[in-house]
Amino acid sequence: MAAKVLFALCLLLVFIAESQATKVKNFFNVMNYGATADGKTDNSAAFMKAWSDACNSNGKVAVMIPRGTYFVKQVIFKGPCKGLTIVRIEGDLIAPSDPFFAKDTWINFRYVKNLIVSGPGRLDGQGSSAWEDCTKNHNCRPSLPISMTFDFVTNGYIHHLSSINSKGGHFKTYGCENMTFKKVKISAPGDSPNTDGIKIANSNGVAIDRGNIGTGDDCIAIISGSKNVSISDVFCGPGHGISVGSLGHNDWEQNVENIKVKNCTLSDTTNGLRIKSWATPLSKPLKVSNFVYEDIVMNNVYNPIIIDQEYCPSGTCSNKDASHVEISDVSFKNIRGSSNTQVAVNLKCSAKFPCKNIILDTIDLWQNRGVGRLSNLCSNVNGASYGKQNPSSCL
Ligand SMILES: *[C@@H]1O[C@H](CO)[C@@H](O)[C@H](O)[C@H]1NC(C)=O
Ligand SMILES: *[C@@H]1O[C@H](CO)[C@@H](O)[C@H](O)[C@H]1NC(C)=O
Ligand SMILES: *[C@@H]1O[C@H](CO)[C@@H](O)[C@H](O)[C@H]1NC(C)=O
Repeated sequence: MAAKVLFALCLLLVFIAESQATKVKNFFNVMNYGATADGKTDNSAAFMKAWSDACNSNGKVAVMIPRGTYFVKQVIFKGPCKGLTIVRIEGDLIAPSDPFFAKDTWINFRYVKNLIVSGPGRLDGQGSSAWEDCTKNHNCRPSLPISMTFDFVTNGYIHHLSSINSKGGHFKTYGCENMTFKKVKISAPGDSPNTDGIKIANSNGVAIDRGNIGTGDDCIAIISGSKNVSISDVFCGPGHGISVGSLGHNDWEQNVENIKVKNCTLSDTTNGLRIKSWATPLSKPLKVSNFVYEDIVMNNVYNPIIIDQEYCPSGTCSNKDASHVEISDVSFKNIRGSSNTQVAVNLKCSAKFPCKNIILDTIDLWQNRGVGRLSNLCSNVNGASYGKQNPSSCL
């Protein structure tokens, strides 16, 4: 009996020791670095000092940004760090309203391995000044700051964070590996220009799970060099949909492969699922392959399914040609809901590099009130269709 009790006690002690070991060792509260939550004082130096101390500590450490409103100019959180670095944002971070306060990025993480950025706080990009500037002024700078960017981050977990009214996009990954965005909430008005939700560039292994994204540009944009992207349980709307591209405008672009989009809803968006490439030549063709879109609901969407390889906005495409982007192995499975234009499935592939193995499996789209009978359009596509097809398949 005594031995048993002793044994149980030992187990308990081991358990306590173990749970201590995985706990956060050190908190670096920005308030101890001179931060002021008055919504006016610039906190960028305080944030970066807290980061630098956390980053240079061993083990599991956390930068704490408590509740309150923090005015923040550009911050760069640079690694490499010694351990696992957590940034817990409980407060609201407010960007300067000047559209040109920084180039490309507001809050940037770079060269970090093992990073967690968590809410429940919010990033407020103060975008309206930039949107007005872009609407009125035609030489509006193309690189407005994106609210939160990750460059060369490996093993990143971003969760329960909100972002509103970005100037450029809301989130972007570049050169990252193994990144997860979970329960991220993004919002900007449907008519705000260039406010992409999450942009994925040159990254391998990005998961977006259970997000709610409403914005004025793509909810999710996947561009050059992205691989192994998995998007699930995301609600998108308003916005321009879940988009791959534009691709095929520059010779330095890299292939895009292995994308999975599952159980998502698109509501009141201009596009649903889109792949877009430029109608311009490349020195060698770019490959886009292995996509699965599955269990997608469309609600009042203008172009529910669209492959557009004839992208050539007037004046920007001097050497027009058939697109040099080769699309293959893309399946659309169990896509249902309402279309706001007559062409429900629009597959406009390249005359030079026709789409290969495009699968339409169980498509059930119906017209919104006032929209005429739906149809599908195919050009330069090889593929097959299975199951219910409403409207009838063009494959
Ligand atoms: C990916 O990142 C997560 C943290 O977000 C980590 O737990 C996991 O081990 C990483 N996977 C690999 C293969 O490194
Ligand atoms: C990504 O996909 C490639 C094949 O396209 C595979 O070899 C690789 O292991 C995958 N990486 C991750 C992180 O899933
Ligand atoms: C589909 O996504 C919704 C959230 O948009 C979620 O509530 C639901 O559980 C998901 N369904 C499945 C089968 O994963």
